[in-house]
Formats: sequence, structure tokens, C-alpha cells
Amino acid sequence: MAKKPAKTKSKSTNSNQMWGGRFSERPDAIMEAINASIDYDRKLYAQDIAGSKAHSTMLAAKGIISSSDAKAIHKGLDTISSEIESGSFEFSAALEDIHMNIEARLSALIGPAAGRLHTARSRNDQVALDFRLWVKQQTQLVHAILGNLIDAFLEKAETHAATVMPGFTHLQTAQPVTFGHHAMAYVEMFARDRSRAADAITRMDECPLGAAALAGTGFPIDRKMTAKALGFREPTRNSLDSVSDRDFALEFLSLASISAMHLSRLAEEIVIWSTPQFNFVRLSDRFSTGSSIMPQKKNPDAAELVRAKTGRINGSLIALLTIMKGLPLTYSKDMQEDKEAVFDAAENLELAIAAMTGMVSDMTINSDAMAAAAGSGFSIATDLADWLVRETGLPFREAHHVTGAAVAMAEKQKCGLEDLALADLQSLNPKITKSVFDVLSVQKSVASRKSFGGTAPANVKKQVAYWKKKRAAETGEKSK
Ligand code: ARG
Repeated sequence: MAKKPAKTKSKSTNSNQMWGGRFSERPDAIMEAINASIDYDRKLYAQDIAGSKAHSTMLAAKGIISSSDAKAIHKGLDTISSEIESGSFEFSAALEDIHMNIEARLSALIGPAAGRLHTARSRNDQVALDFRLWVKQQTQLVHAILGNLIDAFLEKAETHAATVMPGFTHLQTAQPVTFGHHAMAYVEMFARDRSRAADAITRMDECPLGAAALAGTGFPIDRKMTAKALGFREPTRNSLDSVSDRDFALEFLSLASISAMHLSRLAEEIVIWSTPQFNFVRLSDRFSTGSSIMPQKKNPDAAELVRAKTGRINGSLIALLTIMKGLPLTYSKDMQEDKEAVFDAAENLELAIAAMTGMVSDMTINSDAMAAAAGSGFSIATDLADWLVRETGLPFREAHHVTGAAVAMAEKQKCGLEDLALADLQSLNPKITKSVFDVLSVQKSVASRKSFGGTAPANVKKQVAYWKKKRAAETGEKSK
């Protein structure tokens, strides 16, 4: 991106220099205002220049333009690229969008050769290409940074494979789990988000350049050549679809919304866990804020903002779905409105993932508070019921009933299940022996849950090892 945002100027030509051949009057200021996208689509300048370079190289290779023209075009495009990056490029609203701004400047720089660049191309396949390249890069970025968040969780899960905490359903204490297991639940979620990104990339990895306005072109272009030069697997197969499809952007917004939803659930847990009432975690000073009036406060603002970002990301998905839903094939100007929603969602998702990664890596786990809470709320009641089934042969439903009576008894005596006298337990079922106390502990409860995918610390350690190996293979592959 340009360091200094360059100013957008309005030119006083009588008609648009790109398409104004049959026009005698210049557009009304309101027309210009509603039509111009340059204030936001300038973000696509690098993709636009890359596309034009690939296109002109191919045109020259196929003898459609001369190689001296192609050379001049490349040189001019390089100049434009540095002008945009240094902030000296003058963007013009009269030239509508990034495509025409660049082409007009190219014409000023190199003269008539610039006019040959648009041979066998239209802004329709040009914008489809630029936007697809941008969305593909952003999807790759999301894939990469979700990997960092996963790494942060793996570290926490490894350290806290045996740290007990209450597991919740309905936000009521249900059964003890380990914090490591809870952390690994997020590893699974974010790994699925990544796989959605990888899937989406596979589908969007087709190059629309060469579809021209909508019907293809009579020029002997080589679409495989441009697709390859631009890093796509292959060219798209239908010109009409190529210029009218925006589902690559919708897939990005869908996977962004799902990931934002995961981030938001985590954010909500962090907000709850960091209250003095729960006190399960302490956020670092780097990722929290203070109150200007209440000196004792440490607020989880970053988590709250991550939670809130989900709203605008979901909004972007709904906006683009709604923009697209009524459009006949192929291109309609409505589609110019595809970009801001995606830019906004991308920027905010990137920020949310980074903030969450920082919060998670910096966060201190209060194992004592977690352990105290893990034992409260009769969280080991299921362990008593399971013991009755295993050791006395009671059907589970009956065991459930006996355990319910034991909970009522403990509640009345204001103690835990493990504190009840053996005689009291035997009054509920005479088959109960003192060996029942062997299972009535939070540690034993979690250690016993060794079923595949269960919370036992031994399982958690295996899962951490499994994901760490996967991550190492992946990051090792990349650095090759
Ligand atoms: N700025 C336009 C967009 O973003 C470029 C394509 C214009 N095509 C056209 N036929 N008017 O959609």
C-alpha cells in the first residue's frame, strides 16, 4: 500500500478519456460520485499491475502486440508502481477506478503503446482477476496466521495437560475437564477454519483473465500462459462465469464469519474467565486496559472487540450475498460494491486473529482457582453413577437416581460428595463400599476419561503431540 494516501482529483475533461467516445457531455458530479470506486479499489493496484504485465507479455508472445510495446508497457507500469508506493501518484475520481487510473497514467508516460495493453481484455475480466488475486492472498494470510494462534494454544495445552477446571454445559458446572483439553478444543476449531481456507483457495485458483467483456475474444490469446504467470493452477473454463462469479469472495467471507464466530466464543470465555468472580486467567498488561475512574479494574477490551468484530464480518457476508442474489449474468455495476465489504472483513479478521494470538500466548492460567471450581457444583456426580454401574451392576438410570439422592444429601449437609459418610451413602444403596471414594476426586475423574477424544491428561498430551507434529511438517515444508 502507498505510504501517504495520495489525493483523488477530479479532472475537467469533457468526457471520460477511456470510454467517452460517443459522449459529448461530462458526467454530473453526482454521477461521478456514485460511479467512482477509486477511493477503495486503489488497494488492488499491485494486482492490477501484475495482471497487466502478464497480459502484455502474453500478447507479445502471441504476436498480438510488438515486444517493444510490451517492454514500454512494463517499464511504464514499474514507474506507476513506484509512484503509488511513494504516494506521488495522483488518483482521479473522473477516471473511476484503479484500472483506468493506471491505464491513463500509462498513456501519459509511454504514449500510444499504452492503448495496446487493453487488447483482448475488458475491465470485467480485469477486475475479476485483480479481486480474485487479492482475495486469494488474503485467504492464504488467514490460513497462515490461524496457524500462529494454534501454536499459541498448543503451548498452553502442553503446559496445562493436567490442570483441572470445570467443564460446562449451559454455563453450569458439568464434569471436570483439563484446561489443556479445553485449549485443544480451540485447536480443532481453528484447524477446521484453516482447512476451509485451504479448500476455498483450491476452488478460487482459476484465472479469469482472457474472458474479456463476457464472451471471450477473437484474438489468439494464451490463457494458460497468463494463468501460470499469475500463479493460478489453470484458467477458468467459462467466460460468462468468469466475469460474473464472486463466490470466491463469498467463500472468503463465509470462512471469515465462521472463524470470527469461533474467535468470538473464545473472546466471551476470556471475558468470563478474567472476571474476579471466576479468576481463571489473568490477561497480560499488554493485552488489557485500565479504567479511568476505577483504579482496581483491568478490562479485557481486546477480547470484547474481537467479539464485536464478528458483527461487522457477518455483516459483510450478508451484504455481498444480498448484492449478488438478484443479478442476471454476467457483469452488472452492482458488483463494484463487492470490494469494501471484503476489505473491511479481511482487515478486521486479521486484527482479531492477531489480538487473540497475543492474548492467548500472554495469558496466565490460575490453576488454583480452576481446581477449586473444578471440584465445586458436584462435578464428580457422574463418576459416582458410573462407579455404581461398574461395581454394583445397577442399570445407569437407577445409578443416576441414587446419585441424585446423594447430591441432595450432600447439599443438605453443605459438603461435597466425597465428604459424605460411607454409612450415609450405604443408606441410599447398601452395595456401596468404601472403594467408592477412590473415584470421588476431580483428578481421578479426569484421569479416568481415557476414551478417544476424552479429557484424560494422557490423551491431551497425545493430541498435543499429534498437532505439533503436523505443524512442524507444515512449517518445515514452507521453509524449504
Ligand atoms: N470498477 C469496476 C468494478 O469494480 C470495474 C469493472 C467495470 N466494468 C464495467 N463494465 N463498467 O466492478
